[in-house]
Amino acid sequence: MNHPVGIGFIGAGEVSQLHAKAIQSIPEARLVGLWNLEPDRAAERAQLYQCRRYASAEELVQDPEIDAVFVLTNLETHLKFSTLAMENGKHVLVEKPVAATVADVAAIKSTAERCGVVCVPGHNMIHEDSLARARALIQAGDLGKIVSCYVMYNIHHSEERASTLPGMVRHILTHNIYTLMYLVGRPTRAAGMIAVRHYETLTREDLAMVLLDLECGGIAHLCASFAADDFSADPWTFMVKVIGTAGTTRYTYQDWVEAKPGISHSQVYSAYQQTITNEDRHFVQVCLHGGQPLSSMDDAVWAQKVVEAVELSLAENRIVPIA
Ligand SMILES: NC(=O)c1ccc[n+]([C@@H]2O[C@H](COP(=O)([O-])OP(=O)(O)OC[C@H]3O[C@@H](n4cnc5c(N)ncnc54)[C@H](O)[C@@H]3O)[C@@H](O)[C@H]2O)c1
Repeated sequence: MNHPVGIGFIGAGEVSQLHAKAIQSIPEARLVGLWNLEPDRAAERAQLYQCRRYASAEELVQDPEIDAVFVLTNLETHLKFSTLAMENGKHVLVEKPVAATVADVAAIKSTAERCGVVCVPGHNMIHEDSLARARALIQAGDLGKIVSCYVMYNIHHSEERASTLPGMVRHILTHNIYTLMYLVGRPTRAAGMIAVRHYETLTREDLAMVLLDLECGGIAHLCASFAADDFSADPWTFMVKVIGTAGTTRYTYQDWVEAKPGISHSQVYSAYQQTITNEDRHFVQVCLHGGQPLSSMDDAVWAQKVVEAVELSLAENRIVPIA
């Protein structure tokens, strides 16, 4: 492995800006280059990130200076590009949701095992010291029996931005689910509801709420919304709360706010960039020195199982078991 780890981006849309900034701050990593489907955006972003621009994804994965590939394209293409990168011997960080179906996520996991490379899901939200402390307290039993877990996301996004994304269940809920599993373990049953509250022309949901029974015995409530910001004194912008019989813990984006517009947000939630930076740093460490990611490909398989259970719950108007 070269030092620093040479990284290539497949896809250079919005989220690539966060990863580019992250890599700049990691001494053991270097952004070598990118490929993006639309050449204009590729040229603009390659100049902005001061990196090489490849004519195709195939050319990028064949560059020996690239050790690891970040798959930053739309969900439907993650399987194709992750497989291409791994079969060319590259480690992979694949953005969430890892793939479109449980079978596709499992296929990515087995390709990583066959090729002997690191493959990590882009589960950034859990890369937070305070969530690691919360998990340690929960696992040590210091909060007693888990009663309830809330993972709430309320960040308004314009309809224009949302039109490039697949809706709350597919786009945001994965964050809520892997965060929940990191803290309190797997869910066993799901019931979902969705609504359109803000969009005027888009017909996909901008609000999703889900109730989950948990293996540990408690119940979880997840909310994913692009419909409105929460302007209250104690906003649930991205808020995690775990209530146990012997204690409680909470984490919120609102502890660090910069009063200027974010990439798709009305203000900059400093913790958001920090989670991506921490995630990328952790990925580079795993590539260089081995060790376990905070969220594994098995967790990604489970996250997708929950997404699909929620979709079945919505389609059939019932509570769906998750196995
Ligand atoms: N972890 C996070 O917090 C976070 C935040 C935003 C997005 N994401 C994820 O990152 C991924 C990209 O999201 P984004 O916000 O950058 O979206 P985006 O729409 O800004 O960019 C997506 C990129 O995918 C490319 N693309 C589209 N169709 C393609 C195809 N058929 N073949 C090759 N490339 C294609 C486009 O060229 C575009 O540049 C998604 O999986 C999304 O869920 C994660």
